[in-house]
Amino acid sequence: MKRVHCTREILIMIPDEHDSMQFDSKARIIDITKRSEYEKYLHRCLVGPPAKRYKKRIEYLNRAIPNGFHKKLLIVDGDVDGTIEYAPSEVSYYPIIGDNVMVVNCIWVLRKAKGHNFGKLLVEDMIKSEKHSSCFAAIALEDHWSPWFRKWQMEKLGFKPLGSISVTHNAKYKGRIFSVYLMWMPVTEDAKPPVWNRQRLLEGITMCIAHPLYHPQTYKPRQILEEPYG
Ligand SMILES: CC(C)(COP(=O)(O)OP(=O)(O)OC[C@H]1O[C@@H](n2cnc3c(N)ncnc32)[C@H](O)[C@@H]1OP(=O)(O)O)[C@@H](O)C(=O)NCCC(=O)NCCS
Repeated sequence: MKRVHCTREILIMIPDEHDSMQFDSKARIIDITKRSEYEKYLHRCLVGPPAKRYKKRIEYLNRAIPNGFHKKLLIVDGDVDGTIEYAPSEVSYYPIIGDNVMVVNCIWVLRKAKGHNFGKLLVEDMIKSEKHSSCFAAIALEDHWSPWFRKWQMEKLGFKPLGSISVTHNAKYKGRIFSVYLMWMPVTEDAKPPVWNRQRLLEGITMCIAHPLYHPQTYKPRQILEEPYG
């Protein structure tokens, strides 16, 4: 694989003839964290309604960007077809704790762009950018009603489960039990598995309104999730 740096922020992957990974030469990844022309994508998801500037998201970005947060877009033939967002554990979406842990807040490749290893490309680009991290972590879901963060998909991207918690949602599909997994991918030999704060996980997250563990501002109790067996 030949890596061509066009600017500090643009990386184009061009497959050579011996390479087994098939990346489209027209695909590129842009780090939009500090690029004003892509600012709307810092506040919104890939698809859906234009983002209203959401106070909790702005507060989060103000805290996370100076401390190592990145959001990147996958652009294929000029279309935004994927994204990855990550941050050091201290400023990530999740209450994950560990040494030198970079946490994937979100990764998404649109269905129309599937089958080209773009998910893996986004993960590899993150690993290459974050050379000082000893491991990467994420969450995964099983038996959740949405198609998001499926465990088998996160495993295909290279993450392995470290533990899980069975929960119900206090506002949706009441009584339906699903599992949240703590996933990790060590990249150094001395990487130590991260842990998480289960109690804080039950509070959900406030930084992204499209997230399956989102805690709406209108839902006043502290926890959005319960441990039915806890
Ligand atoms: C997980 C995800 C990023 C993977 O991206 P992708 O570009 O489709 O996947 P890739 O082409 O990089 O493939 C990664 C691996 O998964 C496998 N894979 C992907 N889709 C698959 C499918 N439907 N069935 C079986 N295997 C599949 C690929 O074969 C590859 O495995 P391999 O290396 O063993 O060949 C993508 O499926 C996705 O965005 N899912 C939703 C993620 C999500 O919930 N985000 C939160 C939004 S709120």
